[in-house]
Amino acid sequence: MTARILVMPGDGVGPEICREAVRVIDALSNDHGLDVELDEALVGGAAIDAEGDPLPESSLEAARSADAILFGAIGGPKWDNVERAKRPESGLLRLRSELGLFANLRPAILYPQLAHVSTLKHEIVAGLDLMIVRELTGGLYFGKPSGLHKNANGRREAYNTMRYDEAEIERVGRAAFDIARARGGRLCSADKANVLDVSQLWRDVMNDLSADYPDVELTHMYVDNAAMQLVRAPKQFDTIVTTNLFGDILSDTSAMLTGSIGMLPSASMDAHGKGLYEPVHGSAPDIAGQGMANPLAIILSVGMMLRYTLGRGDLADKVENAVGYALDRGLRTRDIMGRETQMASTQEMGGAIADMLR
Ligand code: IPM
Ligand code: MG
Repeated sequence: MTARILVMPGDGVGPEICREAVRVIDALSNDHGLDVELDEALVGGAAIDAEGDPLPESSLEAARSADAILFGAIGGPKWDNVERAKRPESGLLRLRSELGLFANLRPAILYPQLAHVSTLKHEIVAGLDLMIVRELTGGLYFGKPSGLHKNANGRREAYNTMRYDEAEIERVGRAAFDIARARGGRLCSADKANVLDVSQLWRDVMNDLSADYPDVELTHMYVDNAAMQLVRAPKQFDTIVTTNLFGDILSDTSAMLTGSIGMLPSASMDAHGKGLYEPVHGSAPDIAGQGMANPLAIILSVGMMLRYTLGRGDLADKVENAVGYALDRGLRTRDIMGRETQMASTQEMGGAIADMLR
């Protein structure tokens, strides 16, 4: 059956890295029997400029009917001052929410070839391979009430609500236990149960779930300590599960352990194997259109798509191996240059991966 992939390039470096990802998909279709059909839709600032909405109805419909979404990046200074509901970020948040993409998988893997690019000491990060599972459609990002108003004293007052229903905790908890089971068998849940009621519920539900996963070791850690442990001794972690806001913060920290946010893919999954796949890095407007962006994060996101939605783990292995070979051969975009002297452009890097897959 032909799988339908919707490409949403977005803003900044999004379009140029998406082009490289599509070259990789084309190579897999032509030479390895990958059966996919590609479509494209506007999102973010590009959609605001064209239609006045960061997620036009036509884009949402296309996303609903696709089997998987390949997402570039959104945002930029041009749209920083528009009202919140019309900001590029709101388009992405709506897409996550409307499609029920509640489980966000953010691996942080240090490629041995890039060990010297990390700002942390080599022995701290060498061999790092951890996975953060971030809840993505609830918590402080979506809790009601939220707003900004003038209070009785005539002062501006703003508020957001961190709320979770136990079913929301359970479904992301199960996703995380399943992932931990398929990895190193250890799951650490990060919360703030010493202060927040919502975190106590989170912790209780994780404990309840662990009865169904006797083979997975569940531990709990306060999120402030987890942030510290991530930079002190990150290899103590295998899989981390946490709420939307905490996961936003911890996943940027863990990304930086690898020294190269330009290398990291992510997947945002619904309950039925549909996913939105995007690089962890943003739209990088400062280098957009200059052929400097690293396409490996989105190419590795294609790898995750092959594994988690398209059931082609064999091809995911091929993509990941091709990335390894490219690094072995000394190909480096600017963000991962380190000691190397030759800089590869976005197109050279993407082309090299696509060629290796032919
Ligand atoms: C991320 C980003 C988004 C988030 C922004 C762009 C809305 O930081 O995917 O981590 O906060 O979730
Ligand atoms: Mg973030």
